[in-house]
Amino acid sequence: MSINWKAAQNYEELSKLAADIFEQQLQENEKSVLGLATGGTPEGLYSELVQRYNDGKISFEKATSFNLDEYVGLSADHPASYHYFMDTHLFHKVNMRRDSIHLPSGDAEDLQAIAEAYDKKIEASGGIDLQLLGIGVNGHIGFNEPGSSFEASTNIIKLTDSTREQNKIYFDSIVDVPSYAITMGIKTIMQAKKIVLLIAGSDKQGAIDHLSSGIITEDFPASILHKHTDVTIIYTGVEKKN
Ligand code: GLP
Repeated sequence: MSINWKAAQNYEELSKLAADIFEQQLQENEKSVLGLATGGTPEGLYSELVQRYNDGKISFEKATSFNLDEYVGLSADHPASYHYFMDTHLFHKVNMRRDSIHLPSGDAEDLQAIAEAYDKKIEASGGIDLQLLGIGVNGHIGFNEPGSSFEASTNIIKLTDSTREQNKIYFDSIVDVPSYAITMGIKTIMQAKKIVLLIAGSDKQGAIDHLSSGIITEDFPASILHKHTDVTIIYTGVEKKN
């Protein structure tokens, strides 16, 4: 099956369309295993999910989550860490059980062991039912930078200069941006039963052009999504030319 492309009128609509998919997932199976993402793009989705939780439409009580990635060297209470992001935008605001929340630890001593254990935990949970993704300008998903193997499971990766440059807005200065991250691998991501990718903003025009060209290459990690059977891409602020 090919990718299901959905154009949203604006960012608000993109967030609502994405929230509809999560709502449906949780209604079909309250014990869903959710793969979650960080970055500016999903912020609207998370506030929409919090709203729907407050309105009694959805519950996270029996759900499990696995986040995509974390910076190496940042503790969970560092304001730029993805642990902190998730607590702030979602976990502290809904009824998710603490022991059902999983993020790779970025400040553990043995990161390799953390990476291996992460994949095993995902497997033991029954696998990810619905995986949320954003995309980097260079086509990265999670922190799988260009050149990452499509066969990789959760691993430690060196961030490119362009990614560090792009993400420096979350730090005091570029020297504070970590050089490494721990990320679910492409293979791990592709094992999710269903995937939703959100693309918002004109700086992602090159990314959507690449994706819609259909060319699959490790130089543009998100291109692997063409090989998945259930992917929805919701986009706004960019033009899909073909
Ligand atoms: C980071 C994250 C990605 C995310 C990307 C895009 O690098 N590791 O998971 O998709 O940023 O972020 P934004 O949505 O802010 O453009």
